[in-house]
Parts: sequence; structure tokens; C-alpha cells
Amino acid sequence: MWTGRAPGKIILLGEHAVVYGYRAIAAAVDLCTTVTLRDRPGPTAIENSSIDDARLAAAFASIVPGEGLGISIESELPVGCGMGSSAALAVATVRALAAREGRQATFAECYEKGFALERVFHGNPSGLDHAVSAMGSPVIYRRGHPAEGLPLAKPIRLVVANTGVPGNTAELVAGVKARKPSGELLRLGALAEMAAARLAMGQPIGEFLTEAQRLLRKIGVSTPQLDDLCRAMLGAGAQGAKLAGAGGGGIVIALVDGFSEADVRDVAESIVPGRVYAITIRPAATSR
Ligand code: PMV
Repeated sequence: MWTGRAPGKIILLGEHAVVYGYRAIAAAVDLCTTVTLRDRPGPTAIENSSIDDARLAAAFASIVPGEGLGISIESELPVGCGMGSSAALAVATVRALAAREGRQATFAECYEKGFALERVFHGNPSGLDHAVSAMGSPVIYRRGHPAEGLPLAKPIRLVVANTGVPGNTAELVAGVKARKPSGELLRLGALAEMAAARLAMGQPIGEFLTEAQRLLRKIGVSTPQLDDLCRAMLGAGAQGAKLAGAGGGGIVIALVDGFSEADVRDVAESIVPGRVYAITIRPAATSR
């Protein structure tokens, strides 16, 4: 048996804009997907999966041999909520395939092959999700360019609230394309770049998150529930709050400190009980 494991991600700033060549910043999270392969006679088949998605077979067909493998998938990541579950699946699969050949997959291999699987799920992915998953650390990403590490002067503490409503990334990206909100996309990319500079110096970026949420609402990817969560978490003392990922449901992230964390968690729990997590994003040298 051969196993590959890869983490999900959270986009701090720049989702949707990254599809159009602007920069985004994101980081891996400590929730992972594990793919196990074993030899079996006959056509390749998914034998066990904690992910229930009709696109799985087509996705695997894009990178896994059609004959002779049994596939098992174990994921800690909720599906369709903006935490990069399909990207983690892609990278974990590439790693398991390399393990079967008795070697470790390179970043370039995870990135290139990961694209094939991500396309089945997302149509026209920017590549951000699986670049972050393959790096396993904070990243600044621009489509068509090598992913770069995002320097952090200190760890970032986030409260994550999952609406439990899956968003359809391909549809949301297509909706933005149809509306062509060029000014908003430009500004979303600028916020990601400015935030990257501030994070390197240990300066706060809360106001950038809150402005990004206003823009994401304007381009039509937020929902009343996401807006309510952001408002409530800001009201409880968060320094900034926004949806993260494609939107249409999925998660909200709120930037907190030692003073506000408990209140922000409590208010999020009152809205989406049992679906609130606290996450620390650490500088690359000390993470993972
Ligand atoms: O919601 P997710 O995890 O699929 O993130 C999508 C991010 C987008 O920028 C909206 C699309 C992309 O391909 O980058």
C-alpha cells in the first residue's frame, strides 16, 4: 500500500482576483486528506471514500492509471467550503502515486498533475489551492508564476466559521466572469499585495479583510449568512472578517487576538453551532 497526505488551505486575501492574474495570499491548515493506493486486479476503483462527490471518478481518471489500483480516501476537510478539499485530494494523490514508484513527489509534479484533477472540479482554477497544499505553508501566488513563500513576522490567529452550505466554485467563478467587475478585482488584488507587505513587518491587516468582504459582496459571491457572520464577528471584537474561498456559502475567517478570540468564537458558535474552529497560521520556518 502507498499513501500520500496533503493539507487544505485558507485564502487570506485575493480570491477571484487571482483568476485574473492578480496576487492572492493563502496558507495551509492542519486539516489533511490522505489517499491510499493498493494493487488490485481489474479496472482501477475507489474502494473507500469519506468524500461523497459524483466528480471523483472523473477526477481520478485524469491522473491515475485506469487499471490495477484500489483507491481509499480519508479526509478531515469539509467539502465545498473554501478550505481546498479538492486541492488536498489532488496533491495527496500525486504523492501516493510517487510513493508507489518508491520516491517523493516534487513540488513541480504536485503542481502540474494537481492541475489536471483540479480542472475536473473547478473548470478554470487559478492553481492557488493546490500550490498552497503542495507548499504546506503561507504563500503569495500569481497565476502562471512560481508560488512564493509569504514571510510572516509573527503567527496569525483566525476564527473560522463554516456555514455548512457548500459553494460551487466553478459556477461562482463563471458568475464573476459574466459580470466583469474589473475595478473590484483590481482592488482585491491590491489588498492582497499590501497585506503581504504588512504581514512581513508584523503589522495588522484586519481592515483589509473587512474591505475585501465589502468588495466580494459587490461582485456577487457573498450571501446574507456570510454577511451576517462577518458583521457579528466584527461586533464581537474581530479585527477584520471576510468570506474565504469562492463564496456562495463555505467559510468566514475572522482575525482575532488574545482579547477578542473567546467573544468572536462565542458569537460564531451561536450562529453556526459546532462548526467553529480556531486556527494559527505560522511563519514557514516553524510551521508543520
Ligand atoms: O473555494 P475554493 O477553495 O475552491 O477557492 C476558490 C478560489 C477562487 O479564487 C475563487 C478560484 C481559483 O481558482 O482561484
